[in-house]
Amino acid sequence: ARLVVLVSGSGTNLQALLDGIAADAGGYGAEIVAVGADRDAIAGLERAERAGIPTFVCRVKDHATREEWDRALTEATAAHEPDLVVSAGFMKILGKEFLARFGGRVVNTHPALLPSFPGAHGVRDALAHGVKVTGCTVHFVDDGVDTGPIIAQGAVEVRESDDEAALHERIKEVERSLLVDVVGRLARHGYRIEGRKVQIGEHGHR
Ligand code: GRF
Repeated sequence: ARLVVLVSGSGTNLQALLDGIAADAGGYGAEIVAVGADRDAIAGLERAERAGIPTFVCRVKDHATREEWDRALTEATAAHEPDLVVSAGFMKILGKEFLARFGGRVVNTHPALLPSFPGAHGVRDALAHGVKVTGCTVHFVDDGVDTGPIIAQGAVEVRESDDEAALHERIKEVERSLLVDVVGRLARHGYRIEGRKVQIGEHGHR
């Protein structure tokens, strides 16, 4: 399967995918054909360049309207003919045109146990709420914010000593392996989305 990965920052989830694919020597069932970002000069783009993977940047401020940005991102992504789009720390809400084009084929990873703590500050919100267990969620993207059908989740204990950075780093350790596992299974076995349920493999061919 052809993957386009969208990033906005350090790209350690992207790096986990790159390392997982390389380690699996062809058995993984997917290859990253391009990496897209909503901003320049981020480590995520450097990771792609180091791996010899084409990159593209679509900045909201380069477009007169959000819709035009959405169209530009859709076209830049479509140019690489992805089977799956992986939003790995991409910090923009994907627009209507993007979802019309790639709906049902966009996977997102979120650093909280959805439906709890959706949005851009899931780690901070969980910590502030005083939960004892949080974690990460890999889900398909629908037209809501972090509301699409859940594929997999991983739990992470919150420690007394945790601040946002420490907790987020511990979540990311679980998140990176969860994302690599899920994307590989979707690519190798196919899947079907039925309402809020995701079926991978056998009858799940897509
Ligand atoms: C991840 O935890 C992702 O869930 C969240 O931001 C983080 C991105 O990390 N939205 P990285 O850029 O993959 O290192």
